[in-house]
Amino acid sequence: MTDHWIALFPLTELPADSSKGFDLEINDKKLELVLVHKEGKVVAYHNSCPHLGIRLEWQPDQFLDADGYFIQCSTHAALFTIHDGYCISGPCSGRSLKAVAVEIRDGVIGILAGG
Ligand code: FES
Repeated sequence: MTDHWIALFPLTELPADSSKGFDLEINDKKLELVLVHKEGKVVAYHNSCPHLGIRLEWQPDQFLDADGYFIQCSTHAALFTIHDGYCISGPCSGRSLKAVAVEIRDGVIGILAGG
């Protein structure tokens, strides 16, 4: 099984220091993502908190804490480092968001998915 690239949206729709939710379907399976553009890098994780397995955001595209340093779960305020999704505070401390590989091609953000 090889990874293939799936285009999501232009990089211009995710300015530096911002976050965005994106839902899609691949082979009839729903994939809910959170993407963050920070320090020149775009990362993606499954939009599922390791605490209760529910979506992270309370309002559309609002995934970061007030200072923009961490991804924050809106339900019980768990904080996750942006670069690796590791939970440093909250009820799921020590666990991690599940990462999804990102690749930017010709100014378009995409993910690498198996299949
Ligand atoms: S559901 Fe995310 S911290 Fe509880």
